[in-house]
Amino acid sequence: MELRNKTAIITGAGKGIGKAIAESLAREGVNLGLLARTAADLDELKNTLSEQHGVQVFTAAADVSNSQEARAAVSELAASLGHVDILINNAGTASFGKLAEMDPEQWEQIIRVNLMGAYYVTHELLPAMIEQGSGDIINIASTAGERGFATGSAYCASKFALLGMTEALMQEVRKSNIRVTALNPSTVNTPLAVNAGLPIGDEDRMLQPEDVAELVLAGLKLPSRVVLKTAGIWTNNPQ
Ligand SMILES: NC(=O)c1ccc[n+]([C@@H]2O[C@H](COP(=O)([O-])OP(=O)(O)OC[C@H]3O[C@@H](n4cnc5c(N)ncnc54)[C@H](OP(=O)(O)O)[C@@H]3O)[C@@H](O)[C@H]2O)c1
Repeated sequence: MELRNKTAIITGAGKGIGKAIAESLAREGVNLGLLARTAADLDELKNTLSEQHGVQVFTAAADVSNSQEARAAVSELAASLGHVDILINNAGTASFGKLAEMDPEQWEQIIRVNLMGAYYVTHELLPAMIEQGSGDIINIASTAGERGFATGSAYCASKFALLGMTEALMQEVRKSNIRVTALNPSTVNTPLAVNAGLPIGDEDRMLQPEDVAELVLAGLKLPSRVVLKTAGIWTNNPQ
């Protein structure tokens, strides 16, 4: 499917995977609404993408874990874009610790960002997609949503739940010509992975944010009758 002149909102677009998805979509001629908390990241990306690819880029600094803030930001971006064809729920946070030892506030915050954030943004934008009778929603989940591991109770719970929401919503809206997809990367070379102390090892052999962005593009370009329900993304070059 041709992506030129389509519109997309990407959460967590300032760094890592979200930034790589923004770059890939801009290269295809997609007009963008970018959201993250750090305005400076978004402004810099906006300048680069509009200059290099001639696309329209709008930005909104907001915290997706805050319902009011997230809803106001995405509805402003949607109004600037005119309509929204593609939503990428990518904003996410990760930290790890034993359940008994992790601060309850930190545990809850992971759920608020990774699950509730995706819900708030989707809930705000979905009615217009249903009304227009088309749309793509891609949720960036994780292999941590497929199998639990020690110290991952909050992160795994958030991603298992995001996968559940994805599959249920996919069943709900496919008759409205809306595709809902989850992508499950294993460790990707981003600030999140480095800051969370995930094993990085040889950078050349691990997944890069651009690899996830490639799969996003591939999913979006499938004929509209085809929905990629869930796709795991692994390095083919393990250390
Ligand atoms: N890297 C991995 O190994 C890996 C593997 C599997 C899945 N994932 C998932 O991929 C997604 C992107 O991760 P990444 O590795 O690219 O992370 P990253 O490098 O830390 O980038 C995350 C982006 O999300 C934004 N963000 C974080 N919290 C936010 C909030 N509360 N509200 C709005 N924006 C927020 C950050 O900007 P601000 O801080 O300025 O808000 C940043 O732009 C996450 O959902 C993550 O769980 C990552």
